[in-house]
Amino acid sequence: MKKHSSLQTIRDEHASLAAMLQSMRMMIERGPSDDRRNFFDVVRAMLFYIDEFPERLHHPKESNLLFPKVARRVPALMPVIERLEREHMGGEHAVRELQHLLLAWELLGEARRVAFAEATGRYVGFYLEHMQIEEQQVLPAAERSLDAQDWAELDAAFVTHRDPLAPDGARDPAWDRLFTRIVLKAPAPIGVG
Ligand SMILES: [Fe+2]
Ligand SMILES: [Fe+2]
Repeated sequence: MKKHSSLQTIRDEHASLAAMLQSMRMMIERGPSDDRRNFFDVVRAMLFYIDEFPERLHHPKESNLLFPKVARRVPALMPVIERLEREHMGGEHAVRELQHLLLAWELLGEARRVAFAEATGRYVGFYLEHMQIEEQQVLPAAERSLDAQDWAELDAAFVTHRDPLAPDGARDPAWDRLFTRIVLKAPAPIGVG
């Protein structure tokens, strides 16, 4: 089967994002140790990454380019696509809410910790499931049903955007600095901390 660069980009971005989400969840389970300031800095950087990249670049490409094509070719998938679409629409709000809850914990203290930890746990679970549905249902349907013209459009559109965390990508130095901050302090799979 021919490999489509747009689908590979989506899968790579999902892998980066899953690693980030799992590291974040692990960090929050461990909680801040003696270096409280560092803990909040890193979790904040992780939420910023999620807000900045997947929410603003990854989802719109799926919503605007991939989903309409798949919905047209495979109408039976409409309910699944509608669900994913609703989740995209709510995603930005959800991550903003987490940013607020984190700030509440940091500024108001331990009484606000559980609310943040629980909301983050739900968010990570929701997001991993969202990506799994895309990979198990939408991407295979695209592979089966899109034609050469569809692929030419999709691949061309995806060439112009890159995951700043992609190992082989042309990297933006500003993203590199952010990512380095996260990696140095975060647990695996993202980090070495
Ligand atoms: Fe998505
Ligand atoms: Fe996705």
